[in-house]
Amino acid sequence: MNYCGLNQTSNEINRAAEKGTHKTVNNGILEIGGVSCEKLVSACGTPLFVYDEAAIEEQLRSYKEHFRSDNFETEIIYASKSFTCIAMLQLLKKYGFGLDVVSGGELHIAAHADFPMDHVYFHGNNKTWDELELALNLGCKTIIVDNDMECRMLVDIAERMKKPVNVMIRVNPGVTAHTHKYIITGDMDSKFGVALNDENLILGMIGLLQSSRYLSFEGLHAHIGSQIFDLRAYDALIERMIKRIKKLITEHKIEIKALDLGGGFGVRYTEDDKPKSIREVCQRIIAKCEAELKANDLCLHKLMIEPGRSIAAEAGYTLYRVGFMKRTPNVSYLFVDGGMTDNIRKALYDALYECDLANKMGLKKSVKYTVAGKCCESGDILIENVMLPEAEPGDILVVYGTGAYCYSMASNYNRLNKPAVVFVKDGKARIVIKRESYTDQLRFETDKEVIV
Ligand SMILES: Cc1ncc(COP(=O)(O)O)c(C=O)c1O
Repeated sequence: MNYCGLNQTSNEINRAAEKGTHKTVNNGILEIGGVSCEKLVSACGTPLFVYDEAAIEEQLRSYKEHFRSDNFETEIIYASKSFTCIAMLQLLKKYGFGLDVVSGGELHIAAHADFPMDHVYFHGNNKTWDELELALNLGCKTIIVDNDMECRMLVDIAERMKKPVNVMIRVNPGVTAHTHKYIITGDMDSKFGVALNDENLILGMIGLLQSSRYLSFEGLHAHIGSQIFDLRAYDALIERMIKRIKKLITEHKIEIKALDLGGGFGVRYTEDDKPKSIREVCQRIIAKCEAELKANDLCLHKLMIEPGRSIAAEAGYTLYRVGFMKRTPNVSYLFVDGGMTDNIRKALYDALYECDLANKMGLKKSVKYTVAGKCCESGDILIENVMLPEAEPGDILVVYGTGAYCYSMASNYNRLNKPAVVFVKDGKARIVIKRESYTDQLRFETDKEVIV
């Protein structure tokens, strides 16, 4: 048994061990969670999403351990848009996480998994009447309102339904962060949230919420971006939010119980990504909040964060079968049996990934390939210019770090079936989402007259 792979550096091996991942190589075959990738694809087919359950649990434990304060309550709210299914929701329940949902569909699966609704937070910039009604009917505890029209609609719905609900207001703090850069902008043109510096609008919304017998205004929410490495972005965010909270409390006598700082913590997709550990992220945020609260002579009842990617991404792998290969004057293409339908992130954001041939882990990487999918789009490329061993049809290509925003963004473009998802742990595998079939895709085909 050769632990942690022939191609890994000792730093990577240490990091893998630290993160609780169980990625090993046995006779040149990659094993995840003690299960051979060859056996996984024989049993479950390809493309296949594989989640290392122990790695997810390690992230969950780490957040629970480090996002704590003696001065205020804390809650870690998982952003279910990054990846959700009933098995994932059960893990989140087990570790006492909250849940961020953004649609009736995400609410529905949470209810189906018996997720405690007093820990569900409903986000989104354009929730419909039906979705808000569903949230109140299910007993969802907190709605994050995104704009003043939604605020009025929610007041109306709560009055009609006579259902109580907590409300937070999403603000746009003018701090924008993406990957290695963060900027403080005067730019208030985001589609999300109300401008933090638009005091009148915020006061108007709070007044409206407070006028309802059923709504309880809890506090403010912000989310400044994704795949953020520079933690100074969160320092800037905290300073701005606490300054505004101070003003609302002291000048306008408004009670602010909770502050939610959103998610966005960076992960490692390639060797160029150097994310901070969950411990560092949490300790930095907690310390900054404690310091700013103290400096402003304020108390906060509760502080929340909403990580998604940093819990799911690195625990996930996609396995494909290699099909045809083709050489053009400048490119050696290696085609796989999935593509932008199971991973749209390269096409959407030019996202970078690393990969290996999971059945040829020890072999010399002698050929530079461009890995392309099978969809009818020139942009259906997964990874460009990657060194791999000489490939043959039938090899298994593994793409690392596909646990977040891949399955959840999967589509049926070209009528491809969505892949299956398996969780692996301690040498055992279980299917948690079945592979779609062509018959599944015909479920909604009909020919019925509409009475208009
Ligand atoms: C409001 C909100 N919270 C949390 C997240 C999760 O972000 P990440 O997956 O980068 O942690 C998102 C992602 O878009 C978001 O929009």
